[in-house]
Amino acid sequence: MLDPGVVHLNHGSFGACPTDVLDVQAQFRIEMERNPVAFMLHDYQPALEQSREALAEFLGADAAGLVFVPNATYGVNSVLRSLETQLSPGAEIVVTNQTYNACRNAAIVSASRFGGSVIDVDIPFPIESPSVIVDRIRSAVTERTALVMLDHVTSPTGLVWPVAELVAELEPDIPVLIDGAHAPGMIELDLSSIGASFYTANCHKWICSPKGAAFLHVAERHRPHMHAAAISHGHNDGWPASSSRFHAQFDWTGTDDPTARLAVPAALEVMAAHRPGGWEEIRRSNHELALAGRDIVADALQLAAPAPDAMIGSIAALPLPVPEDAGDSIFDPLMERLHHEWKIEVPVFAWPTAPERVIRISAQQYNEIDDYHRLAEALRAELG
Ligand SMILES: Cc1ncc(COP(=O)(O)O)c(C=O)c1O
Repeated sequence: MLDPGVVHLNHGSFGACPTDVLDVQAQFRIEMERNPVAFMLHDYQPALEQSREALAEFLGADAAGLVFVPNATYGVNSVLRSLETQLSPGAEIVVTNQTYNACRNAAIVSASRFGGSVIDVDIPFPIESPSVIVDRIRSAVTERTALVMLDHVTSPTGLVWPVAELVAELEPDIPVLIDGAHAPGMIELDLSSIGASFYTANCHKWICSPKGAAFLHVAERHRPHMHAAAISHGHNDGWPASSSRFHAQFDWTGTDDPTARLAVPAALEVMAAHRPGGWEEIRRSNHELALAGRDIVADALQLAAPAPDAMIGSIAALPLPVPEDAGDSIFDPLMERLHHEWKIEVPVFAWPTAPERVIRISAQQYNEIDDYHRLAEALRAELG
């Protein structure tokens, strides 16, 4: 499906869905449009339950605590909207300088609604060890902390964070919301052993489902207070097809195209069948390719690796030299040049703030080592 004329080194942003999975989604769409009423009122919920069960098994999670949401942004917003009615003025939400911008915005707006504030913890990049993250988060937490929002795999810097260790320190006194947008399919996940109050992530990135499939897992003690960012029938038990009040809040949030979430089991199967070693081999080979790709680019630009290999999944970032005529746009003009002149899709973000910037490579099954050599050649030419 991917355009063969382009070097795709940005699986991280929006994923890419195999045609076999799109075919399953298309079949659901045909069934839906043949009889929309019968599909929505009779066929949808059983298909959703199958999808939920398959995803729960993959994630090591209990299906009773698992709901689908359209994307991780929606998952984060749902948690914040559900918690904020219980929070008092002065309460604090802890985020970091590596929190995804959309999710930080959601925390800021939420804090303004209950009269609280957002504490922004600075996590360095380059980084020497995951213990730096644990230490910095630990020292930002006070008796005012009502929620800690942590990324499992950071967007700008591509690092896998020690979330299980942090959850073990903070919970149950302080609820933790993990934004694991990139994690499922990239790193091995067992949500039960992580034990966070809230975990949201996308299926449309590294599980390679169609776009619009993501999930939120909520620990049992929080389920009675949860509602989706869009209040719908479930609020007054008006969606009886669901097996619990918690599920009903999210199983129906208004009419939409549910086929992406229904195609999640197909994505799990199609990807697992792609390699003899299934998901484990996919994760390992992507990880090895990401490290090899990062080293090719780092060598070409004479940069040191900015993080230990163990903190990398299948995306890896490198700080780039800052040009003299640098501007202040979030997406660096170099990204546009790589897109237009070199036909390479790779993000170059302003980080931590413009004009400083990072380039972030991805490694997915369709990538080859030559993709990174091509990027290295382009960067050598562009950066002189
Ligand atoms: C860490 C992180 N959180 C949240 C998101 C948002 O994902 P979505 O746009 O699917 O909500 C992203 C997207 O790249 C991300 O990297």
